[in-house]
Amino acid sequence: MKFYELDSAGSRIQSEENISDHKFMKILSIETSCDDTAISIMEAKEGITNASFKILANNSNSQIKIHIPYGGVYPKLAKREHLKNLPIILEASLKQAKLDKKNKPVDAIAVTYGPGLEMCLWEGITFAQSLGKKWDVPLIPANHMEGHVLSVFGKDRGKFKIPKIVFPILSLLVSGGHTQLVLTKKWMWYEIIGETLDDAVGEAFDKVARMLNLPYPGGPQVSKLAEKAREEEKQSLRGVSQAVGPRGSASRARGDSDPEKISFPLSLPRPMLHSQNFDFSFSGLKTAVLYLTRKIGKIDSETRAQIALEFENAAIECLVFKTKKAMEKYKIKTLIVAGGVAANQHLRNEMQKIVGRNIKLLFPTKELSGDNSLMIGIAGYLNYIKNKRKVPRLGSIKAIGNLRL
Ligand code: KG4
Ligand code: ZN
Repeated sequence: MKFYELDSAGSRIQSEENISDHKFMKILSIETSCDDTAISIMEAKEGITNASFKILANNSNSQIKIHIPYGGVYPKLAKREHLKNLPIILEASLKQAKLDKKNKPVDAIAVTYGPGLEMCLWEGITFAQSLGKKWDVPLIPANHMEGHVLSVFGKDRGKFKIPKIVFPILSLLVSGGHTQLVLTKKWMWYEIIGETLDDAVGEAFDKVARMLNLPYPGGPQVSKLAEKAREEEKQSLRGVSQAVGPRGSASRARGDSDPEKISFPLSLPRPMLHSQNFDFSFSGLKTAVLYLTRKIGKIDSETRAQIALEFENAAIECLVFKTKKAMEKYKIKTLIVAGGVAANQHLRNEMQKIVGRNIKLLFPTKELSGDNSLMIGIAGYLNYIKNKRKVPRLGSIKAIGNLRL
């Protein structure tokens, strides 16, 4: 993408990365990469390392209910919903920010251009382009995954600042479409050092949820079940219910002489745990759950919870093990864990265990773990500064479904 000099945002073109322009700039940000339609308006100022933000509006519409019957995101439906909801959310956001839509309400528009579902990305982009034209303001294309990385600095209301960061940073990005370990040696610089070779971890959570007859989106549901089973297991280890634990009941149900008997505790594979790289694989784990559920047949609620627990343990162990290895190799000082799966409490707890005193661990707030437009506003603004306030021509921005960091 070509970048052009810009002065229409009313600001000088700066030559330094760390400009100190104390004038606030208003940015409207749009996110439509998957099934959330989201718009925020923020005031932003200062350079990359000391940028500060004030949220004026933050609104989104989740399409979860619409996609439930399909057991996953149905792209054509998602596209239609974005088209329908974008103007409604824009109105609400301008009202919330007390801005007049007729009077050039913002200085720039940040919009997600990838990665994601291309037909959904296009809805956000064309909407942003029409606003950009109408208001005569520039468009800043933002990478959704960079948004996830930067989401750890955000809040969902009020003001926030980019804090002091010690490099190198390692980011574990875990979402419905990605599982990546990313090394950052300086601001806005990314090197993918490992990633999934097949399914993303969030996708595996969602597919396992479907196998367990849990509704979409399954990640939080599997995790809720696993959490409960983990708690019960802890209780039983404390001797509260050692005699008739959930494992006992399921094996009894099949009878001890049954050769097809499922043995408890369940044991699922940890694919690529000891591979000599930082890559992941979750499709084998998912398939192992499929075979297990087929073997069991009718699954009672205790067994379902045991499967959720073992699946979550296996998936999170893979993430944590490789992250730890990468942290050691690259002498990491700051660890970021972001993306939808970063909402997972077990992942949070296990990550906490592997960081020593000298490593800062950053998670997004639970509100900012999933897709949101605030992270797009942050990524948009910081890129604007990084690119010395140059932006691509309005019409040249294209959706890139498989955009990389
Ligand atoms: O980042 P995100 O909102 O959207 C994408 O960019 O993909 O991530 C969504 C993914 C889904 O797969 C969802 O099931 C998963 O994040 N997820 C979770 C949890 N909350 C959301 N997975 C495991 N445990 C959770 N608590
Ligand atoms: Zn995402």
